[in-house]
Amino acid sequence: MIKKAIAVMTSGGDSPGMNAAARAVVRTALHEGVDVYGINNGYKGLLKDDIEQLNGRSVSDLIQRGGTFLGTARSSEFKTKEGRQKGYENLKKRGIEGLVIIGGDGSLTGGSLLSKEFGLPIVGLPGTIDNDVWGTDYTIGADTAANTIVEAINKLRDTASAHRRIIIVEVMGHKSGWLAMTTGIAGGAEYILVPEVKYDLDEMCHELREAYDRGKRYSIIVVAEGACDAVGLGKVVGEKTGIDTRVSVLGHIQRGGSPTVEDRMKASMLGEKAALAIISGVTNVVFGFDAGKVVSINLFDAVTNKKTLDPELVRLSRVLA
Ligand code: F6P
Repeated sequence: MIKKAIAVMTSGGDSPGMNAAARAVVRTALHEGVDVYGINNGYKGLLKDDIEQLNGRSVSDLIQRGGTFLGTARSSEFKTKEGRQKGYENLKKRGIEGLVIIGGDGSLTGGSLLSKEFGLPIVGLPGTIDNDVWGTDYTIGADTAANTIVEAINKLRDTASAHRRIIIVEVMGHKSGWLAMTTGIAGGAEYILVPEVKYDLDEMCHELREAYDRGKRYSIIVVAEGACDAVGLGKVVGEKTGIDTRVSVLGHIQRGGSPTVEDRMKASMLGEKAALAIISGVTNVVFGFDAGKVVSINLFDAVTNKKTLDPELVRLSRVLA
């Protein structure tokens, strides 16, 4: 049971809805009469002692904003035991008794080490546009990123159609194909290339050529960044098909923007759960969603297991292409 203070941190790649989650953690803790500290700039800030006490107003005017007001970073020093010791001491000296971490699998792994090595109570929330955290079918920010990508695909269709081109769209996702698969289906792509599924380049080019010969105006290919180099693929596809081909790498535009209603709502629900859980003495869990309901996952399971791509999505993408 926590009596005095908790801290909240965002870490790794930012994702839309992190603000909504942190806001919910802060407001819930204050509602429960517990002090809250914000750690600025992820584990880097934790090591630099860049920590400040937050109040209700610190998190106003935030729910609609992408990014993270706390800042975020990737830290190599935190990967060492000495680094983690330094971070733990910075929390201890302020009387911080537990930490809520909002981030992807790397950030949650950092939290699992703080828990193992120093016994610090940790609750994680999955915050990443990649939707690649094991045990939850939802991660904060993935819905907003997917909507941003689909909007871009809609626009690319206009110009692809005007020029009778093939357009290859590279999307983020790190090693996961969830973003590509979901947006490829929702964007009506002809082909979706993801790291989890092998593809036959010659067959794809042959089919594309045949389709154009039958009068097809244009094609969209969505490629996950972890599947292959989209620019290189564009050259090969252009050469093999003889069809004018362009590549559009969407990049960090996918990470920004005002969170969707889904991301605001789910992040708020998860933030409240995380604060209540850690205050009541729960540790080593990650809160996520399964079939629309909030679930808790063991932190160590979440960081050691690898989430797989839903084969139903792969099947659907083939039927609809
Ligand atoms: O994990 C989120 C993510 O946006 C990945 O999709 C991408 O591979 C990576 O972060 C990019 O990281 P950075 O912003 O450090 O270049």
